[in-house]
Amino acid sequence: MKILRILAVSVAAFAIAGFSTAASADAAAGKAKFTAACAECHEVADFEGESAAALTDSLKKIVAGTQKHKQALKLTDAEVADLAAYMAAGK
Ligand code: HEC
Repeated sequence: MKILRILAVSVAAFAIAGFSTAASADAAAGKAKFTAACAECHEVADFEGESAAALTDSLKKIVAGTQKHKQALKLTDAEVADLAAYMAAGK
């Protein structure tokens, strides 16, 4: 019985940790990605003032190929969230 309880607690803790990782964007990782993949054509300051939500929306459309972009972009959902957080801050 005790072992089941420990298992239940660790599953719950894991679920919470997993959820917060998925929900919180990492602007530092976004900066690294931007520098590597986007800085050739973009300056991050150009995106300052756009909301992270709007940027996320645009990036997802670009990745899906439904928004015109100079170059096809291949980004995971996590990379999109990280990039949007960094770009919205503009630095
Ligand atoms: C080869 C050059 C090039 C690269 C590399 C590039 N872009 Fe772009 N991007 C453009 C151009 C040019 C536009 C203007 C729209 C158009 O005509 O394609 C644009 C438009 C955009 C827009 C829409 C405009 C806006 O203000 O919302 C977003 C968002 C964007 N780029 C994000 C990115 C991100 C993020 C990366 C890196 C993962 C990236 N781009 C890489 C050239 C580039």
